[in-house]
Amino acid sequence: MPAVIKNAEEVGKMRIAGRLASEVLDYIAPHVRPGISTGELNDLCHAYMVGVQGTVPAPLNYAPPGYKPFPKSICTSVNHQVCHGIPGDRVLKPGDVLNIDITVIKDGFHGDSSRMYYVGEPGIQARRLVETTYQCMWRGIRMVRPGAQLGDIGEAIQRHAEAAGYSVVREFCGHGIGRKFHEEPQVLHYGRAGTGMRLEPGMTFTIEPMINAGKSAIRELADGWTIVTKDHSLSAQWEHTVLVTEGGYEVLTVSDGAPPPPAASV
Ligand code: MF3
Ligand code: CO
Ligand code: CO
Repeated sequence: MPAVIKNAEEVGKMRIAGRLASEVLDYIAPHVRPGISTGELNDLCHAYMVGVQGTVPAPLNYAPPGYKPFPKSICTSVNHQVCHGIPGDRVLKPGDVLNIDITVIKDGFHGDSSRMYYVGEPGIQARRLVETTYQCMWRGIRMVRPGAQLGDIGEAIQRHAEAAGYSVVREFCGHGIGRKFHEEPQVLHYGRAGTGMRLEPGMTFTIEPMINAGKSAIRELADGWTIVTKDHSLSAQWEHTVLVTEGGYEVLTVSDGAPPPPAASV
């Protein structure tokens, strides 16, 4: 299946949805502190999305084939949890690191972004993994331009992760996004430059590398959603939704609180 090309009007709606997703991540940041539970973070985000933004939280009751409906409005993945963590009674403690993944629907279009948060002061290994994963996402984003290929993105990410001694999760990938939460193409976070679909202006997709401090193997918990590292090593993830433009790329999931891109040298 080919990728969906968005026209100018659709791109405008994607920009709005992207900004709103990023603004939820801004909103929740000061609440991420020792003593709060992931369920409380979910409830705060849900109220903000529905009550303040007028957005629909896309994860709530999302049920791709083979999955039971996701029961909450955001994903919270703590420490060795890789992705799709279900918010609940778990109380955050100093030194935890977590990913919060927000997908909103506004005016029929999706915006999808996630960030890492430190609970109190992180250990140096956690900080290095989180920062390297952020660089991996941006190395992927910076490959985006018309005529580039998906494998260019995957190789850039994989090289940077493995040079740091880390591994790339293979089972989950970035994805086209628009009227649908997940659409063509699949954006792998590993691979070979010069392979895969060629990018064209108007494509919108996510880049969301999951990088493990240890081995790449993962396992799904009995809740049917939460993914953890098999070796219990720490895992990190960052996600942006990007648009392919005539001149390169535009990051759609931006807001005042979004961390700045890293220096071009890293
Ligand atoms: N937001 C995730 C992604 O980046 C998907 C979460 S699906 C859910 O693709 F059901 F767990 F919310
Ligand atoms: Co995504
Ligand atoms: Co996401």
